[in-house]
Amino acid sequence: MPDPTLPDVQMNLVRPKEPVIGRLVGSESCMKGRSASFVRHVDIDVSGTPLEGNFRAGQAFGVVPPGCTAQGKPHSVRLYSIASPSWGEDGEGKVLSTTVKRVIDERDTDDAQVHDLFLGVCSNWLCDIALDAEVPVTGPSGKRFLLPERPNDHNYVFVATGTGIAPFRGMVKELLEHPDGPCTSQIHLALGVPYGTDLMYDDLFTTLAQSHDNFHYHTAISRPETGKRRYVDRVIVESEAITALLANERTLLYICGLKGMEDGIYRHLLEQGIVDQYLNWPDDIPREPSNVSERKVRAGARCMVEVY
Ligand code: A2P
Repeated sequence: MPDPTLPDVQMNLVRPKEPVIGRLVGSESCMKGRSASFVRHVDIDVSGTPLEGNFRAGQAFGVVPPGCTAQGKPHSVRLYSIASPSWGEDGEGKVLSTTVKRVIDERDTDDAQVHDLFLGVCSNWLCDIALDAEVPVTGPSGKRFLLPERPNDHNYVFVATGTGIAPFRGMVKELLEHPDGPCTSQIHLALGVPYGTDLMYDDLFTTLAQSHDNFHYHTAISRPETGKRRYVDRVIVESEAITALLANERTLLYICGLKGMEDGIYRHLLEQGIVDQYLNWPDDIPREPSNVSERKVRAGARCMVEVY
């Protein structure tokens, strides 16, 4: 089975120094319930800008929040994953979407006396603004975290933590809601979140799983009220169906979310004897589970990784 062919994509049509103006046309909570965190699905109309029709599921775009830093410099661009299929929310590539989690935290400093509330500038601005507000946008960026050119040639294992779900919303919609008919390959999506109420797009994925026999939706809750804490890599390790699918040479593995989430998955690939299908493991690194976190083991052509 040859390596997947990825499509040619447009990159950096709009540079961070000269953003163009999009407009907010949708903003709604995409969480299953009320939670300590807030995540919104945000739609931005980019029609008439170079971004129109020129982005793909899995790419990112930039947002430049208005205003200046405490040092008086204009805010820098922030990157957000596109949560839409390549044809956008409107079917014509005019409206793209993303998944924005409000960054709310106590400031973490070396000084125990400094622990005031920190609000992420761009995420909170994007979640606060009203419909029709102007949104300075840039991009698109990213040329590897993409669906292959011939989707039906492959199976898919998508693994996300938190808002790492964004690109998979777009990709799953692209595969299953394609105008030429749904992809018939096996598709597994696994999402890990702290609480059950944090699940994002849960209705969409549940409905798609009910209507497509080839789509399987799994969740892992890390801080359940009762029962065992579970990280998303356990879904992969414990599922016989996913493990068998990973052994299939047509399968592609996509990982998006917190840095470190890939380690448990890589160890599982090693234990299953299929690590070379997905990773480039240098000859001078012993093939031991502890070495996956050495950062010397790199994703290969069938493994797409976005961790931060
Ligand atoms: P926890 O924070 O309970 O340790 P969010 O981005 O909304 O915080 O969600 C990220 C999810 O990923 C949380 O459930 C978090 O668990 C979990 N998580 C943290 N570290 C890892 C890891 N190394 N592998 C897999 N999941 C992780």
